[in-house]
Amino acid sequence: MSKITAAITAVGGYVPETKLTNFDLEKMVDTNDEWIRSRTGISERRILKEPGKGSSDMAVPAIEEILRKKNLDPKEIDCIICATVTPDMVFPATANIIADKIGATNAWGYDLSAACSGFLFALSSGAMYIESGRFKKVIVVGVDKMSAIVDYTDRTTCIIFGDGAGAVLLEASEDGLGIQDSILKSDGSGRHYLHMKAGGSVKPATAETVAAREHFAYQEGQAVFKFAVKGMADVSAELLERNNLTGEDIAWLVPHQANLRIIDATANRMGLDKEKVMINIQKYGNTTAATLPLCLWDWENKLKKGDKIVLAAFGGGFTWGATLLTWAYEGK
Ligand code: UT7
Repeated sequence: MSKITAAITAVGGYVPETKLTNFDLEKMVDTNDEWIRSRTGISERRILKEPGKGSSDMAVPAIEEILRKKNLDPKEIDCIICATVTPDMVFPATANIIADKIGATNAWGYDLSAACSGFLFALSSGAMYIESGRFKKVIVVGVDKMSAIVDYTDRTTCIIFGDGAGAVLLEASEDGLGIQDSILKSDGSGRHYLHMKAGGSVKPATAETVAAREHFAYQEGQAVFKFAVKGMADVSAELLERNNLTGEDIAWLVPHQANLRIIDATANRMGLDKEKVMINIQKYGNTTAATLPLCLWDWENKLKKGDKIVLAAFGGGFTWGATLLTWAYEGK
């Protein structure tokens, strides 16, 4: 019997309509369009503005797009893994809320917290459920409402992040298509450089933590930048080597969209032409767990069955990794 592999068989995405441009940010903090574009590659990001809306409200339309494309009854979904650091609430899991909202009454699921590597970690986890033969239809969604945890008085972080959601459906392939190999890493000593200071069990929310602005994302940008360049490039190169591939064999690199300079360094290290690199950071910014599936969503029409694709990410934790997959269907 041939080995079952887990293939992405559909992609969906959602970004809110409201745009926050560099020129809008110029009016909020001491920054300018030229600095933001040259240091990060970002021109604008999307913001979920409506009060009372959270991450599940972006994940739901992304997954509903998949249901429509595949003519799928939500009751057929076995499992939903939601990668996010901005869940609707601390508990229950946003995956449960999503399941309820889309009518996936037969699905179990959970949230996975690995910051910008969340989608990659969730994809690997979901793939194992398919490979084992235990489940047939697994939804992996990466979603973050970063605007809920961004301090719009901190010019070093507020210029980077945006809101969005991207989702994929994983199903079994008996032709060896889909996820081939992954290298996933984490190093908790990196937690000091990128974290949220309060709101967890170490430092629960108090009037003081709110006054000290400790419920926002805290980032030491330069330190994270250094680790990200090395982490993402090293792991992507190692993945190619271990699979006896070179940049020439790769149709697309799908890199986490944190900073154009980090993306360029990774592509160079892999020996990849710029035309093979998915880049949409200019219009969405860094949407944390949503960057990778939002790239697949934007590029779906160009993808061909058999394309070798590398997904690579780096984020808070630190967490990082790369996944090699063979695309399973004609995008058009
Ligand atoms: O996705 C999760 C992982 N996160 C990342 O991968 C993010 C990694 N880090 C980065 O992308 C970059 O470090 C940032 C984009 C956050 C910052 O860029 P940088 O090139 O590392 O800037 P810097 O912090 O070294 O600051 C350079 C200068 C400083 O001024 P001086 O000290 O040289 O006079 C900053 O005060 O730029 C100044 N600066 C700004 N100027 C205008 C910092 N932020 C801004 C700003 N506008 N928004």
